Amino acid sequence: MLNLLKNKHILLGITGSIAAYRMPDLIRQLQAKGAKVKVIMTKGAQAFITPLTFSALTGHPVYTDVFHFYSEHPIIHLDLARWADIFVIAPASADVIAKLAQGMANDLLTSTALGCSRPILVCPSMNPNMYFKPAVQANLRRLTQNGFYVMQPAKGKLACGTEGQGRLPAIEDIIARIEMFFFPQDLRRYKILVTAGPTQEAIDPVRFITNRSSGKMGFAIAKLAAARGAEVILVSGPTQLRPPYGVNFISITTTQEMKEAVFECYPEVDAVIMAAAVADFRPRYTPQKIKKADGLALYLEKTEDILSLLGQYKRHQLLVGFAAETGDPLAEAKRKLEQKRLDLIIANDVTQPGAGFGTETNQVTLIYRNGVRECWPLMYKEEVAMRLLDRIKGLLCRMC
Ligand SMILES: Cc1cc2nc3c(=O)[nH]c(=O)nc-3n(C[C@H](O)[C@H](O)[C@H](O)COP(=O)(O)O)c2cc1C
Repeated sequence: MLNLLKNKHILLGITGSIAAYRMPDLIRQLQAKGAKVKVIMTKGAQAFITPLTFSALTGHPVYTDVFHFYSEHPIIHLDLARWADIFVIAPASADVIAKLAQGMANDLLTSTALGCSRPILVCPSMNPNMYFKPAVQANLRRLTQNGFYVMQPAKGKLACGTEGQGRLPAIEDIIARIEMFFFPQDLRRYKILVTAGPTQEAIDPVRFITNRSSGKMGFAIAKLAAARGAEVILVSGPTQLRPPYGVNFISITTTQEMKEAVFECYPEVDAVIMAAAVADFRPRYTPQKIKKADGLALYLEKTEDILSLLGQYKRHQLLVGFAAETGDPLAEAKRKLEQKRLDLIIANDVTQPGAGFGTETNQVTLIYRNGVRECWPLMYKEEVAMRLLDRIKGLLCRMC
């Protein structure tokens, strides 16, 4: 798996928000990715959770006092600022946000922020009334203008019982945002459309046909393209996966819905990566549930071939397809590449162990328009996605 956080120094600043209780989980997940974590707590934070919890988790003292002498860090605020590869302030209270916006330095956390030349990520968390107060919004705008990175809080039910925007984002999303600081931002200029998952075609109101696609390959591509700075639209059929952080997610069910969503975005994107396993056939829909006693014979008609249509209406876009096949995947992939006017096709034999639907890994062969082939070994889908994006970047660079 990609391990961008290995040995990275993450300084975590915890403030007096109720969401402080979620920080042990963040620390554990960062450590699982190989990161080293040290914690600063404000006085407010210590009212919610004890420093002992964090010193036990991190193996370091928890730093709380700018005037205390910590033997490993004699000038505590500057030493911690130097130690950090990134300073993450999560949860960030309205109070600390106001102090940071003013450039105040009257406690350890704010002094460290002033002394820090590394990226500072602020994750506000508070009741929606607090969050939308003009003063808080103005402070957040000021932070962004002053070079801080601010993560939008999530919507949903809050600990105070109200509903709205103000929740600390999911831990996975905070980690994805942190990881972005360690990715090259080499796709920043591009807008990329990715499709993923299966499509479903209804037989009657309770039954449908679909395929085994899990969506993992397409989701990995979308996640990493966004992490590398691309503007990403992910159009996906039904899967068990969370939409990756930072992508514009469009959820669809049928092939027709996927076609409409894809064509709406098509004119404005630089590249389309069709990793979805689109249903090739659709039954005739029966509006009433078919009774068991009546038996069931399916008449299937062909759905529209979205990739072929994209090839037909192609202008400036780079078009990348996937060919999940059995038998002779390379011959079939080559045929699709030519017929559908693709720039690149990724072929895989879904009957091979570790390749294809539902697995964490994939083994693929790339075939380019000029006939060049690249056969890659079995890799995690994220690694396939990362390498594939390198190739796509190369093709996009050549096109412009
Ligand atoms: C039960 C409780 C929950 C609170 N939750 C939040 C919160 O989620 N976000 C916030 O900005 N302030 C919250 N506050 C208010 C802060 O704790 C208070 O402004 C405090 O001064 C912040 O201290 P600090 O910013 O120095 O950590 C809460 C207070 C209490 C008593």
